[in-house]
Amino acid sequence: MLGVCYYPEHWPEDWWPEDARAMRALGLAYVRVGEFAWSRLEPEPGRYEPAWLRRAMDILSAAGLKIVLGTPTATPPKWLMDLYPDIAPVDAEGQKRGFGSRRHSSFSSPVWILESRRIVEWMAREFGQHPGLAGWQTDNEYGCHDTVQSHGAHDQKAFQTWLRQRYQSPEQLNQAWGNVFWSMEVDSFDGISLPMLAVTETNPAARLDFWRFSSDQVARYNQMQVDIIRAHSPGRFITHNFMGQFHEFDHFHVAESLDLASWDSYPIGATERFPFSEAEKQLYAKTGHPDMAAFNHDLYRAVGRGRFWVMEQQPGPVNWAPWNPVPRKGQIRLFTWEALAHGAEVVSYFRWRQAPFAQEQMHAGLNRPDGILSPGGAEAAQVALELAALGPLPAVEQARVALVFDYEAEWITRIQPQGRDFNYAELAYRWYESVREMGLDVDLVSPGASLLGYALVLVPCLPHVSEAALAAFRAAGALILFGPRSGSKTRHFSIPEGLPPGPLRELIDIKVVEVASLRPGLAEHVIGDISGTMSRWRENLETGPHVSALADFDDGHAAFAQDGQCFYLAGWPDKPLLNQAMRHLAERARLEPVELPAGIRLRRRGGLTFAFNYGANPWNVPVEPARLVLGSARLEPSGIAIWTDAKNTL
Ligand code: GAL
Repeated sequence: MLGVCYYPEHWPEDWWPEDARAMRALGLAYVRVGEFAWSRLEPEPGRYEPAWLRRAMDILSAAGLKIVLGTPTATPPKWLMDLYPDIAPVDAEGQKRGFGSRRHSSFSSPVWILESRRIVEWMAREFGQHPGLAGWQTDNEYGCHDTVQSHGAHDQKAFQTWLRQRYQSPEQLNQAWGNVFWSMEVDSFDGISLPMLAVTETNPAARLDFWRFSSDQVARYNQMQVDIIRAHSPGRFITHNFMGQFHEFDHFHVAESLDLASWDSYPIGATERFPFSEAEKQLYAKTGHPDMAAFNHDLYRAVGRGRFWVMEQQPGPVNWAPWNPVPRKGQIRLFTWEALAHGAEVVSYFRWRQAPFAQEQMHAGLNRPDGILSPGGAEAAQVALELAALGPLPAVEQARVALVFDYEAEWITRIQPQGRDFNYAELAYRWYESVREMGLDVDLVSPGASLLGYALVLVPCLPHVSEAALAAFRAAGALILFGPRSGSKTRHFSIPEGLPPGPLRELIDIKVVEVASLRPGLAEHVIGDISGTMSRWRENLETGPHVSALADFDDGHAAFAQDGQCFYLAGWPDKPLLNQAMRHLAERARLEPVELPAGIRLRRRGGLTFAFNYGANPWNVPVEPARLVLGSARLEPSGIAIWTDAKNTL
């Protein structure tokens, strides 16, 4: 269940056999190669050099490793950019982004698509039947370094085509976008410019469509690679390595063409970059925030329709966060076990050996640049031994709590935040965290996916409620909690007729008649079945006759409303209030929430319960020692324990 990323082109060829042997000796089963090697696979236009990679693959597979081959399209080589400078993406300020790093291509450049087809087809024909080849990775981290949206001439043309297909006539587009406002009406699709470089805010409906278009371009590009690989390399799985906490395109959509999802897990760097408080960043600087990896595991399990890998696992300090500490002792082992607890099929470390040259020379590997095993490498070896002793892990079962995660919610709230700190990713994360702190498992689900079998469904914010999403809510037998701004926009970024929550009014008879964003320091008091404060955002509701207000703002407006099975939180609850709301609902849904000390997390996989200690203190595991299959009764900081039988005795 373990693997590693390896770059044979970075090392002398006579090192390869020993590297392969050492990987096996460490307990690794998979090795990913190739994804940045274009300049070595095709050093000049049309001059292909497959032999070295074939030798590397032969050596790796002879040692017993299964190979994942990446297509090299994240790094178009210099000669290609010189031949076709139009491939380069253009930023929102109209600046061309140049050669010298990676991802310097636009998904809408016709010549880029042709060139991508050519190299992918060549690779698939050349290596697709290799006996050691287990699967493929398309490209590398779509969108990394802010490369989903591009603003050049090709992008504009492709956007116009996309709009023509959707709206048929300029009149219908004008109508949908509300272009009568500020005389923004257009009389042809060819006259539509990209929403950029205007004097002030461009039309939010145009920006939402540009976001959707850009997301669709990623999906089309991925589909193109997948179709070619399937034709020439049957029987191998195809995945893509997505990023954590990255929501610039609709991952559910892009992954439709894949056999499984994978993602790149760097929880410590990701914690530095997430909008946590300084105190939290300090507390979890060397471990990562306790839900950072878990949230993404649960998201990518959904994106992969039940199947996911961690394609790149942080092995030690990285190079790209504002600060890059050495992970606390035990933490790499913890990350690995945590991924497995959430259902990862394979955890693959990035990378085998730290490179002493170029951009990532300060990024650790399983081995130091001098070839000695790093502390992270030693922890990976320990997991391999533990896994071998434990045997196969049981299947992941459906959780009882679902959290509906929506990429468009992120786009809509970023296009018009209305309050500077209304951050969808943060809101979704905080709701997830609150449930995880009660020891419960959570499935993330896409809007419109079936909600059958869940006892509690959480919808932190779903501004545009599609027909499919509404149907899934109607059919759910669960308690459903909707958060602020849900149902607040139509498909075309307008306020719905009859006011928010728009179509959700069928399920909960409320009307949002006013909203307020609150600058830091302003807080609104809430009193009732749950009490505390809301900050950042609040709404004023009118409630129908069957609605009960379980808690009110101190001016008398309902803050937490209930209509039958459905509940609504009219704002951004601060942590104590959020926790009370979640506990209230968990108890009503008979979920048996527990109280865990700070930094302790649980996760079940079949009949096994896993415990992880992100905290600063040891924790006494609440089960008889006889039930422990890994770890001891005392869970040390960065320790893990596994016990049998999902029912714990807290
Ligand atoms: C990932 C990327 C890798 C490497 C790694 C460093 O984003 O896929 O190629 O750059 O980060 O942490």
